Amino acid sequence: MSVALTEFVRSLPKAELHIHLEGSLEAEMLFRLAERNDVALPWPSADALRGAYRFDSLQSFLDLYYQGCRVLVREQDFYDVTRAYLARAHADGVVRAEAFLGPQSFTERGVPVGDILGGVLRAMDDARAEDGISAGLVVTAQRHRSEADAFTLLDSVSPWADRIAGFGLGGAEVGNPPSRFTRYFRELRQLGFKTTAHAGEEGPAAYVREAVELLQVDRIDHGIRALDDPNLVELLAASRIPLTVCPLSNVKLKAVSRLVDHPLPAMLAAGLTVTINSDDPAYFGGYVVDNYVQCAQAFGLSADALAALAANSIAASFLSDAEKDALGNVS
Ligand code: HPA
Ligand code: ZN
Repeated sequence: MSVALTEFVRSLPKAELHIHLEGSLEAEMLFRLAERNDVALPWPSADALRGAYRFDSLQSFLDLYYQGCRVLVREQDFYDVTRAYLARAHADGVVRAEAFLGPQSFTERGVPVGDILGGVLRAMDDARAEDGISAGLVVTAQRHRSEADAFTLLDSVSPWADRIAGFGLGGAEVGNPPSRFTRYFRELRQLGFKTTAHAGEEGPAAYVREAVELLQVDRIDHGIRALDDPNLVELLAASRIPLTVCPLSNVKLKAVSRLVDHPLPAMLAAGLTVTINSDDPAYFGGYVVDNYVQCAQAFGLSADALAALAANSIAASFLSDAEKDALGNVS
């Protein structure tokens, strides 16, 4: 891998907009937290756990990912995983991180929502103070659960409303279309929250259309399957709805067979507002800079193209225009 290319990508001020904090939990920390919290794991070692990172679908990944979530129990655990991700992101030249966390995995086991959000937000405050990185929490609902559960989640986090950057939708996509959450997203919009939803990762282009037309989201997470529907591509291009694309995730979960087969170049050629992100970096073999660098190598992206992708990411963030301008000036 070219050191110069990596250093160039690192030097670009960029936002990461699609990163699950639970998916940034590295195997060593996962084992440390399991010991600290007396949680039994089905793997004998961190190496054995890493050896299990072979997936053939989103669901095969989620099964392992939810196992890993069991080690996050106390406020300090949520602090530690968030602080470690933000330190790594800062080292990668990320000046703004909008990070997902799905409280339902934890509240169902009795973890108080105040401990979850408290730890994450305290780490975000410390990262801002110590490294100057701007961070926002995007609270995700799991789509395999009911819309009523999503409303319960919204109620439970409402005391922290002024600290929440937005709301998202994740989890098992196929069979759980965005239309199941129309009333929930309407409520989020009426409350003035920014929204985003995973759509078109494994699910069809029709799910992307539902996320745009029914949920009226501000961003689409993944969205690669949108290319199957040329009319939808035109709609996405005209409306400039940003897509948070995660190329290494798509390869690891077999949404595409090899990186060179990834639709990123076609998405750029179609005029879509594309950003590059890591999704679940501990599990998918790369942080955000690795995603940029491997795409640059696979597709021969120019320095200008890489800089445009980084600029897209800041423009697509949920910050105000004034806040974006201030970030763009960070060197
Ligand atoms: N898709 C849906 N849900 C998720 C993902 C993903 O890639 N990662 C963590 N939760
Ligand atoms: Zn994701």
